[in-house]
Amino acid sequence: MQKSTYVREMFATIAPTYDFTNRVMTAGIDEAWRRRAIRELQAEPGGEILDLCCGTGDLSFAAARADRGRRIVGVDFCEPMLRVARQRNRKFADRVSFVEGDVMALPFAEQRFSGATMGFSMRNVVDIGATLREIRRVLRPGARFVNLDVSKPPNPLWRRVFYLHFYKIVPLIGTLLSGSKKAYTYLPNSLTNFPDADGLATRFAEAGFEGVRYVRLLGGIVAIHVGTKAP
Ligand SMILES: C[S@@+](CC[C@H](N)C(=O)[O-])C[C@H]1O[C@@H](n2cnc3c(N)ncnc32)[C@H](O)[C@@H]1O
Repeated sequence: MQKSTYVREMFATIAPTYDFTNRVMTAGIDEAWRRRAIRELQAEPGGEILDLCCGTGDLSFAAARADRGRRIVGVDFCEPMLRVARQRNRKFADRVSFVEGDVMALPFAEQRFSGATMGFSMRNVVDIGATLREIRRVLRPGARFVNLDVSKPPNPLWRRVFYLHFYKIVPLIGTLLSGSKKAYTYLPNSLTNFPDADGLATRFAEAGFEGVRYVRLLGGIVAIHVGTKAP
């Protein structure tokens, strides 16, 4: 089975329990990480924000909350995840919308968006370089792409502690809460071949982003990468 088909089916299975499981596994800290990522956007007033791999909409809603005048479009290729996002979208229905699409072939014209975000998803795409180039295509000159994802802590001791949690405890809690052993065995493994923070910054630069930088949170368990499309 192709990786993208596998990923789509896996998220379809866990869509109903995804939000609750996330909150439990991160002890709710993920909300603060999302707000921190949104602060990096610094988008021009009035422009639209694209939330890539929006899933059930957490990052889209965080962006909507942070700027009351902002329109946000969430895109994801898993219809059951989008269904949950649409059901949750009561407060911001006038300016947050959800569209089905693959982030490697976005259904949008070039230079449409004033900023883009992606949360906890770059590990799942088939081709990181192609995805970054596609994101850059739909951004306006001067717009930023902010990526929030799990990363690899640089301190070896802290990395061991985190890996114990991520590779052993997360699958246990995930399986218990979602009923899907397969999904929560795959999710930690998605980190194994994922670049570390420096490596991901290099991929941003190779895809044509400028001013690339990143911030590590919680000792590097999570990293926020920022890249700008040249003005
Ligand atoms: C771990 S969830 C993250 C959801 C959300 N961004 C969040 O922060 O909670 C990963 C999401 O990426 C989506 N996804 C993975 N690869 C994709 C692709 N190529 N195109 C569109 N969506 C994709 C999955 O369907 C899933 O909803």
